[in-house]
Amino acid sequence: MNFSDFENLVKTRQSCRDFNDKPLEKEIVDKIVKTARLAPSACNSQPWKLYCVTDNEKAEEVRNALTDAGKNTFLKNAKAFIAVAEKIMPLKEDVLKRFSSNHFVKYDVGEMVAYVTLAAESLGVKSCIIGWINTENLAAALGLAPDEQCNIVIALGYSDIPVREKVRLKEEQVIKYL
Ligand SMILES: Cc1cc2nc3c(=O)[nH]c(=O)nc-3n(C[C@H](O)[C@H](O)[C@H](O)COP(=O)(O)O)c2cc1C
Repeated sequence: MNFSDFENLVKTRQSCRDFNDKPLEKEIVDKIVKTARLAPSACNSQPWKLYCVTDNEKAEEVRNALTDAGKNTFLKNAKAFIAVAEKIMPLKEDVLKRFSSNHFVKYDVGEMVAYVTLAAESLGVKSCIIGWINTENLAAALGLAPDEQCNIVIALGYSDIPVREKVRLKEEQVIKYL
């Protein structure tokens, strides 16, 4: 892959809020998560567990936890969900002396979620990261362990929606050379 391929992948990845009816095979979800788990993390701690939901009944339970208060109604057509549970994992001793045990967890999870969305896009699978979650209901639906917490879910499926122009802050607002 060269830079132009990567740039194209990044520009094509967009939050999908209009999934079509095409089924999503479990094997594709498997490819996505097995690649995303290779993401880097502080001290290689990998403070995550990826719950893959492809079963229709379970997907409905997850969907309910992501659509309360009338939010995210477009998820009715999402074909699979990858719920990312965070869990505190051991860090190196010198790192722990300076930083709390959860200091890097959200950065690590964010990095891995980016891998999920880009892996999906490379396979032609559309995604939407979901942060609007009824965390208690989701934990019950997933059967999370007491030391796991899920604040991010990635909805997956296919779509016929064309690629949109990215809406972002101006380059000079977010990039500064010294
Ligand atoms: C942490 C996080 C939480 C998000 N939660 C939601 C959500 O609950 N519902 C939704 O429709 N989009 C959600 N999004 C998608 C963002 O709105 C979207 O990434 C942003 O507007 C940029 O648009 P783009 O992804 O199409 O480039 C979330 C994104 C992130 C990174």
